[in-house]
Amino acid sequence: MTDADTLTLRRPDDWHVHLRDGPMLDFAADLTARQFARAIVMPNLVPPVTTVAAATAYRERIFAALPAGRDFTPLMTAYLTDEIDPDEVETGFKSGVFTACKLYPAGATTNSASGVTDVRHIYGVLERMQAIGMLLLVHGEVVSPDIDIFDREAVFLERVLGPVLADFPALKVVLEHITTEDSVSFIEAAGSNLAATITAHHLRIDRNAMFEGGLRPHAYCLPVAKRRRHRQSLRKAAVSGNPKFFLGTDSAPHPRHEKESACGCAGIFSAPVALESYAQTFDEEGALDRLEAFASEFGPRFYGLPLNDGQVTLRREAQTVPDVVGSEDLDLVPFHAGETLSWRYVEADG
Ligand code: DOR
Ligand code: ZN
Repeated sequence: MTDADTLTLRRPDDWHVHLRDGPMLDFAADLTARQFARAIVMPNLVPPVTTVAAATAYRERIFAALPAGRDFTPLMTAYLTDEIDPDEVETGFKSGVFTACKLYPAGATTNSASGVTDVRHIYGVLERMQAIGMLLLVHGEVVSPDIDIFDREAVFLERVLGPVLADFPALKVVLEHITTEDSVSFIEAAGSNLAATITAHHLRIDRNAMFEGGLRPHAYCLPVAKRRRHRQSLRKAAVSGNPKFFLGTDSAPHPRHEKESACGCAGIFSAPVALESYAQTFDEEGALDRLEAFASEFGPRFYGLPLNDGQVTLRREAQTVPDVVGSEDLDLVPFHAGETLSWRYVEADG
């Protein structure tokens, strides 16, 4: 599978990505589609994707944004609100439009204003999801102003996730983009119905990255990066071979001027070099042989979907990531901007 300079993997999937809409979608969609066979597409558009019709139309726009012949399957999600109708969710799931539902606590992050104000408001939907075997994807942060931003994930485990798992013991849940050793321990201790995604960036940056010689908006995302020991715990979990931890980039593009602003948006745009970034981390951990399972096996197994056919290749070859990508009208700063990575993704047909 791997010699020293070539890494061949079963085609991987991205179990958490923001593709956006409009011109941003046109730019971002193929950066994910060229590396991943499938992706769980976040529904936090404006307005959010809360209906089967909206998800169907969005999926069409994603296909329209891709070059002809690209083999990519967007897996759509329903954005849970206090009012969402369990019948709508079930119809979308049974017709193959919705793969899962996404819980954003109201106010937790970008475009979460219509999110759930109290998890008890969606207990009817959770009951239905549990009955039909539909996954719940969770942004795991509480938003009360009295909770320090660095504690929001840990407090969520205790106040929200614990009770939900106790009340719905057969519900399958993915705690997305985990950032703390508390979450790692929580996942390890929980039953087989709970798993987590880990982003490329949370494996590489801790909170110091936001303040290195000044304020660094491109290192700001939510959940915010934590102390070094948390990052070390995430790295250990990612390379552990435990099938409860798998790949989800949370690549979240924002126009550069909306990041470099007095109130900069949260999100790190890792799609241009996502696999390269994970490969770099696994390589540093001496665990390149574990990358395939993390990227291509554990996710589909948890979701109950088939593994992909086909392979992708990365070559050990230095590449310097551009400072800026996009166009004059839509410029973005990618993750690893200006850094030199030691792996390069090789396009299958290139
Ligand atoms: O950093 C983030 N950006 N975290 C999220 O939860 C949302 C995302 C976005 O949509 O920009
Ligand atoms: Zn996200």
